[in-house]
Amino acid sequence: MDTINKKPKMKGIILSGGTATRLFPLTATTSKQLLPVYDRQMIFYPLNTLVKAGIKEILMIVAPEHSGQYLNLLGSVFKTHGIHLYFEVQKIPRGLADAFILGESFIGRSNVTMILGDNIFEDDFSDDIKNFVSGGKIFAKKVTDWQRFGIVKFDENKKAIEIVEKPKEWISDFAIPGLYIYDKHVSSAAKEVVPSERGEIEITSLHNYYLEKNELEVGVVEGAWLDAGTFDTLLEAGNIVKEKKLSEKFDPLINQAIAEFNEELKILAKKKLS
Ligand code: TTP
Repeated sequence: MDTINKKPKMKGIILSGGTATRLFPLTATTSKQLLPVYDRQMIFYPLNTLVKAGIKEILMIVAPEHSGQYLNLLGSVFKTHGIHLYFEVQKIPRGLADAFILGESFIGRSNVTMILGDNIFEDDFSDDIKNFVSGGKIFAKKVTDWQRFGIVKFDENKKAIEIVEKPKEWISDFAIPGLYIYDKHVSSAAKEVVPSERGEIEITSLHNYYLEKNELEVGVVEGAWLDAGTFDTLLEAGNIVKEKKLSEKFDPLINQAIAEFNEELKILAKKKLS
């Protein structure tokens, strides 16, 4: 009866919809997360974070107008590499925690790691993801522009005591990046969340749900964290990725899959020319 103590499976979600108004007009023709960051589409960076941690089942949540582009790219790249991609359309960008409602049947009784499609991390989170058992685990990173993020405040023992979405008054310099690990209760918790003043189902409400139950762990992001949502951060992301050679540190499976797809594209291009 060893199934009783078995750790739940870990699945992944990439939230890759949204309106990307800060990147207009670039995003009038494609999704933000399909824009290039140095030598590959932005979406490959969060995908790599999940695949590197051994996650094989990943739900892509995309906006309706871009669903074909995602299917075309990722369906072609990963058809033979043991990564199972599922797609769900988010018709209206209702907030980050909506991912757990849209993903409810996908998550089932598994644990889940959700990453935002425009978040690029230098760190490898494999240990955090593989060792996760239950409750919730989020991360903190020191920033200067605390007004722009969900912010976590720690007590003198480095225990998280308060989490506030875009605080008006300073409470701490620690922002919560877009990588969240939760157990199977996250979907029912998300369904309880009352939309905020800006009409979104806030991820901060979920963090607080687990914090109040004393089930939230907060880790630290040591390396670079980029949220490539503005012209400046998109450019910065490309430069940092190149400088730190992040694509060379990708899971070999992803690099191989991209290389194979590139070859296929070249052959097709030659056929069209001849
Ligand atoms: P944001 O950058 O907050 O929103 P956005 O991408 O729509 O951009 P802007 O603020 O310029 O209009 O979103 C963070 C990430 O989460 C991004 O990858 C898009 C994604 N997202 C969704 O997929 N659905 C949503 O409902 C929201 C709010 C965001």
